[in-house]
Amino acid sequence: MSLNLPRIIGNAVSVANSWLDRRALHHPRYFKTLASLGALWFASHLVQATSHLIAPHVLPSRLGKLKRNAGAWAIVTGASDGIGKGFAFELAAQGFNVVLIARNRAKLESVAAELRGEFPQAQTKIWVADAAEVTAEGRVDFAQLKKLVAGTPVTILINNVGIANNPLELDILPDKDIVDVVVVNDIFTTLITKHVLPTLEANGPGLILNVGAFADRLAIPYMGVYSGSKGYTTSWTRGLAAELRERKSKVQVQALLVNAVNSQSNHTPVGLITPSARSFARSALRLASTQVVIAPTFWHKISSGILLVLPECFSRPMVSAFANQMRENFRQGKKLGQS
Ligand SMILES: NC(=O)c1ccc[n+]([C@@H]2O[C@H](COP(=O)([O-])OP(=O)(O)OC[C@H]3O[C@@H](n4cnc5c(N)ncnc54)[C@H](OP(=O)(O)O)[C@@H]3O)[C@@H](O)[C@H]2O)c1
Repeated sequence: MSLNLPRIIGNAVSVANSWLDRRALHHPRYFKTLASLGALWFASHLVQATSHLIAPHVLPSRLGKLKRNAGAWAIVTGASDGIGKGFAFELAAQGFNVVLIARNRAKLESVAAELRGEFPQAQTKIWVADAAEVTAEGRVDFAQLKKLVAGTPVTILINNVGIANNPLELDILPDKDIVDVVVVNDIFTTLITKHVLPTLEANGPGLILNVGAFADRLAIPYMGVYSGSKGYTTSWTRGLAAELRERKSKVQVQALLVNAVNSQSNHTPVGLITPSARSFARSALRLASTQVVIAPTFWHKISSGILLVLPECFSRPMVSAFANQMRENFRQGKKLGQS
């Protein structure tokens, strides 16, 4: 039996209308109270939505506070490509020195040289680590990272590294893919934060940016493992933010809701809704410390916001079309956005 949704909604609206009509005819004051409550509800939501949308973009950036005059350092995970590389360059543009973390030393060294070429005043350090190995005994040693940054005023940690599962049915998705997504996106990120937090506290004020994804809000077929791992990012960030407030910490934490960004893993051409990695990082840094969970680009907020407020009967076909396109690309060995 199929549900005739428009008819059900139509019937419900006409029943409510006739009930209100009868009440309004006999009890005009009752109707007025109801109308005022409705107007109040609408106005408060409008103010909330507008302030969420606009306020962060008009408030002055709080990044300057983290610079400690000169010589402050930022740690960026997944820094040799995509959004992480974008953050490294934009942080250097703002006067920060950068610790670059990823798996491939040669690539990291080439990014460090490129960065110093563009910003000769910037210093760089490299830490080679495979986030997927963090649970394997002795493979990722945070003591090495602590030693690397000992004595340097680190005030920012950008938890950017993240991977997605291949868009396959759960029962044929290799166990290793599932484990890697959760370990890289959630476990590594939590552990590096735990180990860097005392340094950030000592050098406070400090900032932790956790790169999440709008995928955590959407039901994307075949991407549940990735979406779930990014759901952890926002929930954990909220919990940590509350904990840091409770502890009166000088460190703030923020989760970034990301939609499409042109990167190594997403080849969607740069456009209105798809920023370059550097422009995305620039917006995120401008809005640092404004809201605990934030979509740092205006068009991400609008495009994803529309998907989220649309009734599921409209949004579901769009999300399914996206998922099927991703599966087709995967079958053909292409990246997202590659034609
Ligand atoms: N781009 C988008 O459209 C988009 C949308 C939503 C959310 N995001 C999120 O944004 C973040 C960055 O994505 P991106 O698209 O910029 O990625 P990307 O272009 O694929 O770059 C990934 C970076 O992470 C490093 N990396 C990958 N696996 C690693 C591991 N196991 N250990 C250490 N480093 C590793 C890579 O270097 P090596 O391979 O050399 O290690 C590279 O520097 C992720 O958290 C992603 O979920 C991106």
